[in-house]
Amino acid sequence: MPSSPLVTHRTAFRKALLAWYDERRRDLPWRTAPSLYKTVVSEFMLQQTQVKTALPYFDRWIRELPDFASLAAASEERVLKLWEGLGYYSRARNLHRLGKAVASMKFVPATAAAWRELPGVGPYTAAAITSIALGAREACVDGNVVRILARLTADDTAQRDGSSAAKAFAPLATEMLNPDRPGDHNQAMMELGATVCVRHSPQCLLCPVSAWCAGRAAGDPERFPRLASKSIERTEVLRAWCEHEGRLLLHRARQGSRRLAGIHELPTPEQAGLTAGAVRAGPLLARRTRGITRFHVTESIHAAAAPEMPPADDLAWIPLAEIDTISLSGPHRRWIAEILGTRTQATSAKQPAEGRSRRRSKSA
Ligand code: ADE
Repeated sequence: MPSSPLVTHRTAFRKALLAWYDERRRDLPWRTAPSLYKTVVSEFMLQQTQVKTALPYFDRWIRELPDFASLAAASEERVLKLWEGLGYYSRARNLHRLGKAVASMKFVPATAAAWRELPGVGPYTAAAITSIALGAREACVDGNVVRILARLTADDTAQRDGSSAAKAFAPLATEMLNPDRPGDHNQAMMELGATVCVRHSPQCLLCPVSAWCAGRAAGDPERFPRLASKSIERTEVLRAWCEHEGRLLLHRARQGSRRLAGIHELPTPEQAGLTAGAVRAGPLLARRTRGITRFHVTESIHAAAAPEMPPADDLAWIPLAEIDTISLSGPHRRWIAEILGTRTQATSAKQPAEGRSRRRSKSA
């Protein structure tokens, strides 16, 4: 990409961006009393999660595992439990492995290239960690930054996907980076993309750098960047609710699974050793939809008779009273609570008070 006219104005641009950031930035917990560890944890959490979702997880994580040493010493079970609900659990497992690696080092790596050698650290995360915590002159380029730069330069080149767009804009991001405060510059760009230069209806009147924005001058900043639209695929998943003597059959994902490693979910018929027909024939307990990457998934949970075969390694009968102690994927925890809740409500509506309390004490 040839150097953009924007680069000519970069000194004024950087100054306006940082003045806005210094005045308007959100008070985020990894920004108050920052440390390398807090930066690493927050960047891992923010890889696929919005700031407002990550906040309570970040606070709890820092309370329970305040440094690399405590993270390195924690069990995988505990790490996954603290991550539960954030999804993409390979991030938690990589962060755990990274914690062990860093805790065993005499010196922490100083360059983005060295950080990229660590588990779960790609170009974006390496640039974020080293610029924010170590002052390295590395530009972060994610979807937010691509959007800002494409609008500033009114660049409507068709981009195949997010990662090729990030590669295309990396040279400009590097030219624009403020060498004196690279970490703050990067966070200011992230902040601008998250709060002002948003995907739909950008707030150009509030933008500190609108004076240099060719997209705005062209009258239609939303047109940039031009990304190939994601084709959404609809799929259906059946789930079996097999309950036997106060225990629920759950499937625990393989360690190699990127999204769910080590996490429990209600089993599909195949995982439970049942046929789809047998599961579908049982009463429907819940039907829920969710988005996973480019898939729109409808999940139907049916009550099913317990399978006859003994549970395989990746299946476990979990006492209902212990559900809270294991790692479940966020949506499945919600659905299980909803199904159990509906049942409790139905039971309490039907039972006289005495019967209700007897029943409760029995199952507890
Ligand atoms: N997204 C990724 N890293 C971030 C950070 N440090 N602050 C705000 N949003 C972010």
